[in-house]
Amino acid sequence: MKQVLLDAYGVPEDVARCAETADVGAPGAGEVVFDVLAFPINPADVWFCKGNYRLKPPLPATPGAECVGRVTAVGAGVVHVKPGDLVINLQRENWTQKRRVKAEDAIPLPADIDLRQAAMVRINPPTALLLLSDIVDLKPGDWVIQNVANSAVGKLLIKLAAARGLRTVNVVRRESLFAELKALGADVCVVDGPDLAARVEAATGGARIMLGIDAVAGAATARLGACLANHGTVCNYGSMTGEDPVMGRNEIIYRGVTLTGFMLGRFMAKRSLEQIRAIYADLAGQIRSGVLNAPVEQVYPIGDIKTALAHAQRGERGGKILVAPNGPV
Ligand SMILES: NC(=O)c1ccc[n+]([C@@H]2O[C@H](COP(=O)([O-])OP(=O)(O)OC[C@H]3O[C@@H](n4cnc5c(N)ncnc54)[C@H](OP(=O)(O)O)[C@@H]3O)[C@@H](O)[C@H]2O)c1
Repeated sequence: MKQVLLDAYGVPEDVARCAETADVGAPGAGEVVFDVLAFPINPADVWFCKGNYRLKPPLPATPGAECVGRVTAVGAGVVHVKPGDLVINLQRENWTQKRRVKAEDAIPLPADIDLRQAAMVRINPPTALLLLSDIVDLKPGDWVIQNVANSAVGKLLIKLAAARGLRTVNVVRRESLFAELKALGADVCVVDGPDLAARVEAATGGARIMLGIDAVAGAATARLGACLANHGTVCNYGSMTGEDPVMGRNEIIYRGVTLTGFMLGRFMAKRSLEQIRAIYADLAGQIRSGVLNAPVEQVYPIGDIKTALAHAQRGERGGKILVAPNGPV
């Protein structure tokens, strides 16, 4: 079968290759085998290939934090999924044609969900959901501010926030994105820059913003912090600059602003398997009905993994780069 292997950590499109590897074999008791139908290339996968991610397994390594698959066989004792079902996988190493996993890691999806959207269910939708539920106690009418607002997480967050009656300030790198984000339900859109706090204050009429959601890091974290009310919280959950988050003394010492962090796995681990399945059932339902959606820019075959990786690292993309290892989706 075909599988992406890294023989070294480095420039992703240089170090990743599509290799022929041994089949995964038949499922044992309590195991599920599925064909990988599609996977996205997320920023964390790019960091993984570079060797800059929190996980750096021994080489050769296979990237891939998420995918959608179709079950081909189940082992003894597996009852919650059957051959033909669509599943997402809670484990990694998904940049391959086939996976054999523990049954509890295979989460079933609705049969008629769009396969491209299904490939992106595992990480970004619950991230957007939990960033809005687990950091600050927000009530309808409250404001939140986020950067990378045109990212997949950012767009999902706009939709989920609007559905809860929350108002969003959306920070991006170019004004041409405003119309698209407003159509999703964004209340205010601004271009990042040194005077961000003054422009946000003017655009919101001096709104009291208690939560800032940051995936740029570096000085951008401090710019979000400056937009918050006293005792607000900035939650850093990524670093598109590759820098550590910075927060101004004025915010921390005089205004009591808190800097905290979010990692999906850490926040999911606070929940039971039943609660996790319920979260995915709810999100998958919203994706199936088209309420939630993450745009896709291009889908590549697995043999073109190098081109796909180079494409995924381009700025100003219109959507995600996906790979379909077992034929077009
Ligand atoms: N902590 C967690 O558990 C968790 C879970 C999911 C995602 N994340 C993080 O969430 C972030 C967004 O992920 P995604 O999959 O939604 O991303 P995505 O759809 O691939 O979009 C990437 C975004 O990053 C922006 N960007 C790229 N380079 C940048 C830079 N140097 N400065 C500022 N913005 C930059 C892009 O803006 P342009 O369009 O202007 O290029 C785009 O908005 C990533 O940092 C990811 O690691 C974290």
